[in-house]
Amino acid sequence: MDAQFSYTHSQYVVNQFRDSGAHGEFAQFLSAARCAAARATITQWQGYCPTPLVTLSDVAAAAQVGRVFYKDESARFALGSFKALGGSYAVAELARSYKDNHGHLDGFAVATATDGNHGRSVAWGAQRLGLECHIFIHAHVSQARADAMAALGAQVHRTEGNYDDSLVVCERMAAEHNWHIVSDTSWEGYESVPLQVMAGYSVMAAEIVTQLDGLIPSHFYIPAGCGGLAGAMLAYCWPVWRGRLPRIVVVESMMADCVYRSIKSQDRVGMHIVEETLMGGLSNGEVSQVVWPLLKKGVSAVITIPDEGVMPMMRWLAKPTCAERPPIEGGECSAAGLIALMASASDSALARSLGLDSTSTVLVLGTEGATDPGFYRRALSEA
Ligand SMILES: Cc1ncc(COP(=O)(O)O)c(C=O)c1O
Repeated sequence: MDAQFSYTHSQYVVNQFRDSGAHGEFAQFLSAARCAAARATITQWQGYCPTPLVTLSDVAAAAQVGRVFYKDESARFALGSFKALGGSYAVAELARSYKDNHGHLDGFAVATATDGNHGRSVAWGAQRLGLECHIFIHAHVSQARADAMAALGAQVHRTEGNYDDSLVVCERMAAEHNWHIVSDTSWEGYESVPLQVMAGYSVMAAEIVTQLDGLIPSHFYIPAGCGGLAGAMLAYCWPVWRGRLPRIVVVESMMADCVYRSIKSQDRVGMHIVEETLMGGLSNGEVSQVVWPLLKKGVSAVITIPDEGVMPMMRWLAKPTCAERPPIEGGECSAAGLIALMASASDSALARSLGLDSTSTVLVLGTEGATDPGFYRRALSEA
């Protein structure tokens, strides 16, 4: 039975340099006004509805912690992941300022490199405004994900290599054709769009704070690719929770462990992805430049995980082992936080250094549903 699967981690690092006094800095990073503007826009979009915060009593019992809250992003708009909040909002903001400056949107086109979910969000944002959209995907992005973006009207270009290679091609083509890049990750000289993407993500953080109704979790497990999601959660929640900060545990694939390596060396170091993880959304070799100072000060620990637990965890989410919790459609990346929680609970040294015990209230982000339906079906049928 999948609940009994032995969930393991690969490596972990506890951040010795966490600075719990840094909330002033964090509050400036994504200002309250900026987050409020994103919320005002996104909550007006057709189909907006806060996603559920579900209590996973069966996982809490197995991990021997007090409570587990799971933010279920599987029904986020029609896109099935939290990414729907980011790229599409950045497209809307870019288009708005272009129109303010030029008086029209003729000839305005957007482009991005993606593992899937971010591109779908950008394509959706472009479709809603009738904009031309170019999406660059690497060799390992599934055809189902490519088809989903094409169905939203995007022109999908497949490149060789990994995500970083697709970004190089995207940048070259965008420069040639004067397309506007809408990336979820940032680099030297490219920060304002990724910050808008993160402002979009902050809507999820605002929903969580409201849903917790004054309760502050003791631990917050966040999956990371380039770290934009973790950065947005830190920037929004830190000033709100400043009285009692949770331990922030970032979770990565062992095959794309740039946050782990960076925290370990206290410097933003990249890595070359050799093999693709099943958790496609977490496959990034570099921490987003703009979020690195936040992660460096805000993260308590980074845990890397192997792929082995992904399908068992997806099945466990779908098939509760207690009567009171509903079945949950959780995709590949949604398994990450829960796998890391189970792995932390079963490693006594790690649990001790995280202060994880039967009194803990754990918040886990379930960032996607069945965004690749074929893979989801396979994961559920393989037992
Ligand atoms: C489903 C899902 N979860 C988590 C992440 C990680 O987000 P970030 O790259 O901002 O760290 C991604 C990124 O694409 C994703 O698609």
